[in-house]
Amino acid sequence: MTVSALSQWLPWTDRAGRTSWIKLATFLALLAPAVWMAAEWRLGLLSPKPVTDLVRESGDWAIRILVLSLAVTPLRYVARFNRVILVRRMMGLAALFYTLLHIALWCVDLRFAWLRIATELFLRLFLTVGLVATLIMIALGVTSNDWSIRELGAVRWNKLHAWVYGATFLSLVHYFMEVRLDASEAALMCGYFVLLMSFREIRKRATPGFVNLALAALVCAVATGLIEGLYYALSTSVPVLRVLMANFDVSYRVSPALWVLGVGLCVAVLAHLRERFGPKPVRVARA
Ligand code: HEM
Repeated sequence: MTVSALSQWLPWTDRAGRTSWIKLATFLALLAPAVWMAAEWRLGLLSPKPVTDLVRESGDWAIRILVLSLAVTPLRYVARFNRVILVRRMMGLAALFYTLLHIALWCVDLRFAWLRIATELFLRLFLTVGLVATLIMIALGVTSNDWSIRELGAVRWNKLHAWVYGATFLSLVHYFMEVRLDASEAALMCGYFVLLMSFREIRKRATPGFVNLALAALVCAVATGLIEGLYYALSTSVPVLRVLMANFDVSYRVSPALWVLGVGLCVAVLAHLRERFGPKPVRVARA
């Protein structure tokens, strides 16, 4: 294989083997959490149970990147930013990488006691749910290449890869089942997931204009507050409505609901600006 053929396989090059700045920036951003975790380990910045800390941190990054990878397609349409599609595969594979790291670290934490690992995987429901999510992600990761698209055909490949939503849903259930005290980040990730799903539905049924997107942002923000409220109502006796109201109280904190509302409104404004001032979408005449 020649050097130029090899350069096509580098994560930061495009199909022609040229450096793509958007791919390079994304690659470095996706690598940063792993570098930071290694630095925390080497510099002794973790608690007396460093491996347990890293199991949590790698899990957090796996779910964040997985949810972010779902934002690529909506962003492509809303912002009419086609080049962003170049990084979708890389983000999905990075989510899989952090998930596998998360599981490997958990095995290290259990000192590779395989019998205990197998028993826990099937007896602790939150781990079984995580395992199913991981198996789906592995199937998607293995088929994330041009050869699989050709072999399966676009329709079947797209159907298979729509399972990413199922994997994300199960990962969020796994996260919620494991939360002990503070459910705010789990609620935030759920809120973003609901927001992304709603954008997907809007794009299928209507034009993603400002009003549609802003309304979706509001509804999803309320849904986020309700999800957090429901978690506390089930795990403690705090009423759902009190948590929902606290989510819209700006004096206390920037709550998950407010983050979802803010991000949703920013996307709505972006869509509006692109519609008014951006390039018009190119209509391809059907042969
Ligand atoms: C076989 C599959 C999996 C196993 C064995 C596993 C194992 C674990 C364990 C043991 C914890 C609790 C850590 C602790 O509090 O001490 C945990 C938490 C977590 N896992 Fe997983 N997990 C799996 C799959 C996944 C997947 C697919 C994701 C997301 C893509 C994920 C994301 C998380 C998150 C976000 C947490 C919470 C971290 C925190 O408390 O900050 N896990 N997992």
